[in-house]
Amino acid sequence: MQKLEKKSPCKVNLLLNILGKRADGFHELETIFQPVNFCDEISFERGGNGIQLSCSDKSLPTDSRNLIYRAAEKFLAAANISDGIKIHLDKKIPMAAGLGGGSGNAATTLLALNELFDKPLSEEKLHELAASLGSDINFFLQNKPALATGRGEKIQPLENFPALVGKAIFLIHPGFGISTPWAYQNLARFPEALNGKKNRAEKLISKLNGTDLKAAAKEFYNSLEAPAFEKFPILKIYQEFLLANGATATLMSGSGSTTFAICENVSAGNSLAEKFKSQFGQNCWTAVVPIS
Ligand code: C5P
Repeated sequence: MQKLEKKSPCKVNLLLNILGKRADGFHELETIFQPVNFCDEISFERGGNGIQLSCSDKSLPTDSRNLIYRAAEKFLAAANISDGIKIHLDKKIPMAAGLGGGSGNAATTLLALNELFDKPLSEEKLHELAASLGSDINFFLQNKPALATGRGEKIQPLENFPALVGKAIFLIHPGFGISTPWAYQNLARFPEALNGKKNRAEKLISKLNGTDLKAAAKEFYNSLEAPAFEKFPILKIYQEFLLANGATATLMSGSGSTTFAICENVSAGNSLAEKFKSQFGQNCWTAVVPIS
């Protein structure tokens, strides 16, 4: 195969429960990832010399600061391949958004290159490379909802949640990003959020496996809302508005800054999006995505 085009989806966290700081500086956590079918597009082509990365968004670096570049570098080294590769990223997912766009791009790169070069690496090896690149990347090597533990890299795939069947996700990116290291560092000032109660994930998964989304919504929780809401109280105001105007559940995703609402269906999501924009103006990036 010479050329391959791939969609690179994003995610939201229905739960991000931090269980304390570890000796290696990372935080132990339990999180529930929900895939979201809003995608970047990446094309891969064999040829040229070395890794040549280009991107539709000129503000993104295209050297080893870019996770796609690092993923390609690690893949080629592990597979002992010296061929050149050209990669183009059409960026649609907002950045520093808590949606895992960059992590998803890295995982898509590992999967695509393995396909392009006729599967030189095992699934296990791809997971090893993913974990060495970042904490959220393993999740994107598969396409189901998942429970993740450890620092986020230990993945247990789950079946689609019955409580979310037919529902839609309304995503709101407020126009500013939140850096993940900043969010984790500032969590230190919120001891209760830093040392979350264990087994929130088990409880939420059991509710999501029922059909009562309102009951499940009560268990949505994100430890990183504590530092994020303190610095950016507008995020809390968005959530209050969303709940008062028909959202069944809301939460900040990952380390933010995206906040999302779960709506009964796409048309309820679209009408909530209209209300939101007439209240807060057009400056936020928004999308309504059906849950498949
Ligand atoms: O692994 P990743 O590159 O996504 O992490 C970015 C940063 O977020 C880390 O350098 C660390 O500061 C913080 N982090 C953490 N605990 C985790 C995941 C990330 O402290 N479980």
